[in-house]
Amino acid sequence: MNNIYKKDVWQIIEEGFHPELNKESESIFSIGNGYIGQRANFEEKYSGDTLQGSYVAGVYYPDKTRVGWWKNGYPEYFAKVLNAPNWIGIDISVNGEPVDLATSKIISFSRILNMKEGYLERSFRIPVSESKTLEIKSRRFVSMAEPDLGMIRYAVKSIDFEGLVDFTMYIDGDVKNEDTNYGEKFWAEVYKEISGNIGILITSTLKTDFHVATGMCFEFLKDNKAIAVRTDAIEREKFIGNHASIVLKPGEELILYKYVSVLSSLNNAKEHLADDTKVRLNAAKDKGYEELFLEHSGEWGRIWATSDVVIDGDISAQQAIRFNIFHLNQTYTGKDERLNIGPKGFTGEKYGGSTYWDTEAFALPFFLKTADQNVGKNLLLYRYKHLGKSIANAEKLGFKNGAALYPMVTMNGEECHNEWEITFEEIHRNGAIAFAIFNYIRHTGDEDYILDYGLEVLIAISRFWSQRATFSGNLKKFVILGVTGPNEYENNVNNNWYTNSLAVWTITYTLKNISILEKGNPDKLIALYKKISFNYKVETTRWKDLIKNMYFPVDNSRNIFLQQDGFLDKELMPASSIASDEKPINQHWSWDRILRSCFIKQADVLQGLYLFEDRFDAETIKRNFDFYEPMTVHESSLSACIHSIIASRIGYVEKAYALYLRTARLDLDDYNNEVAEGLHITSMAGTWLAIVEGFGGMRVMEGKILLDPHIPSNWQSYSFHARFRNTLFEVKVTNDCVSINILSGKSIIIVLSGKEYMVEATDKLIVNLKVDFFS
Ligand code: BGC
Repeated sequence: MNNIYKKDVWQIIEEGFHPELNKESESIFSIGNGYIGQRANFEEKYSGDTLQGSYVAGVYYPDKTRVGWWKNGYPEYFAKVLNAPNWIGIDISVNGEPVDLATSKIISFSRILNMKEGYLERSFRIPVSESKTLEIKSRRFVSMAEPDLGMIRYAVKSIDFEGLVDFTMYIDGDVKNEDTNYGEKFWAEVYKEISGNIGILITSTLKTDFHVATGMCFEFLKDNKAIAVRTDAIEREKFIGNHASIVLKPGEELILYKYVSVLSSLNNAKEHLADDTKVRLNAAKDKGYEELFLEHSGEWGRIWATSDVVIDGDISAQQAIRFNIFHLNQTYTGKDERLNIGPKGFTGEKYGGSTYWDTEAFALPFFLKTADQNVGKNLLLYRYKHLGKSIANAEKLGFKNGAALYPMVTMNGEECHNEWEITFEEIHRNGAIAFAIFNYIRHTGDEDYILDYGLEVLIAISRFWSQRATFSGNLKKFVILGVTGPNEYENNVNNNWYTNSLAVWTITYTLKNISILEKGNPDKLIALYKKISFNYKVETTRWKDLIKNMYFPVDNSRNIFLQQDGFLDKELMPASSIASDEKPINQHWSWDRILRSCFIKQADVLQGLYLFEDRFDAETIKRNFDFYEPMTVHESSLSACIHSIIASRIGYVEKAYALYLRTARLDLDDYNNEVAEGLHITSMAGTWLAIVEGFGGMRVMEGKILLDPHIPSNWQSYSFHARFRNTLFEVKVTNDCVSINILSGKSIIIVLSGKEYMVEATDKLIVNLKVDFFS
């Protein structure tokens, strides 16, 4: 746990350099625009502890799987997001001495992430040549308006020193991943050129042959005027640079603008990459840094206007929620259905930058409520396009007849993770993907999606559930054996309540849509049946049987759902009984001990109650919460947010707030000592949900918005933006009043604390209401 960042409502501020936490800060201060992402590494040489990270969305490497004992069905590779060519490099020497903050004395240092306008700024003063002082200020952003562009303004000022400053602006493609299975490098050189003030390096990924062109051009200014500087080109294998020496006098400031364009063969033809990069660099330089910055910060203005959450009375909470919203929008902009959201986004290598169920279960609900509906649709289309590979994945495991098992971890639709208990058993992800279709439609009203794409996916997933369930002659019920639920501290269990619930829900929802389309669009439906060889009668007969006769483990004496068969045979004890020096248990206990214990990594039965809460009364939810929450260790970042939302729903206000606190500043305060590896991007969406669905009680049901607001006692007010079917509205909650303001779009129906209101598009609804305190 650390607490080094100053509290500020729009900025993250590190004052004074903390080299021991440098990797943590590199994650926290990362910048991105959905297309390129960059950890907050320094421009100049740094010989201290660092994780270098420059990422290009969609560009990955299939690193050969490494396991001790091969099992049939294992994926051949584990995909890795690549540490791509370093585009930020600017080395500095002063009178021949390299500037290196790991070895230099530091007079002052600050690092600022400005979330309102989307930039990273760093400034420091160091002593140079016989007690003279030099000041360096750099500002960096990756453009939200023109996503291939990254910009650096690097200002070197002499306070009282006179001498020579050497600059080397470079692009270095000779980079590696920390996370490689065999210590290999993943890039090869394709092309380079460097002349005058422009340079281009094209590298390609081994095996996948993505080509990435990284180009730079630059200009120097003194007294705000461009100056001509003689430069010498440097070329090495996978490296281009330009070197310049400039004399600096006391009081003088030199400004270097480095313009960078990163293009990949995902979007540009390989043979045109060099030319295209040149065009992009010239256009960027013609426009100029200031203009590009204005366009970029304007885009951030538009994002905040539709997704900001304002908390009055708690700077720490305000900073945290903006930090989360900021990083989610830096990770995914929803413009390209080939891209997705890695659990660490562009802030580190962990989880390989691949797509997990996190997207559908956590990130999608955030984007559905804060972004244009195309953003959600593209997340769905990503899976639709992977349907063929998911069917192939299921075939590999022995399923047939078009049954699909979506991968637990993927880059391109293929399963690319290799822990058997995850790839083979954590099949609940299929249910999250089916539920996402329902969630998208209930938010957007885009019913056409079902016929155009959704039903094909739903049928394939239903086919999977139907084949994966077996009929137990003993129980005279359908059972689902050998699974891992969301709680990964149990493997190979039978009848995980959550998984069985999702299976039945998916098939029911598929059948419901089929019967709607039978009346609404029978021709298209028949065409779909033909395309996927769907034998309605035979297949749905078993489906209906399965819905009627699925087995669900329950404990009748406590009147609760059981996480899985046999759960009650465990020695039940609360997580509070675990010694504090043994937490987190995944770092202190053997795997065997964890598996035998009752401790729950993350919401499991409660994840199901969260999805299907409309089916259960508050008392049922309470009984299950009371049973499971004390045993939950929340060692997944995706856990506390769900428990917090449920606690709000059942009126456990203190608990809801305590759980919310656990998720809100998870990364900023580094609760789990793992921020050095990257940020928990997908769980950031969970924090947002804990405010909007938890404290705000927002639900979308049957074409209406439901709100049931509460307010933590130390907040004077809070407000959030949300979208519903192209209507953008703002909800503001104070202790005695709730106001709803439509910012754009049509009138909507809101059910506020049980009472229905029509909120007119041109009006603001203000309801005086005693809002409960969370104390
Ligand atoms: C969680 C999974 C999650 C993954 C990536 C794991 O620790 O248990 O549910 O998908 O992290 O966030």
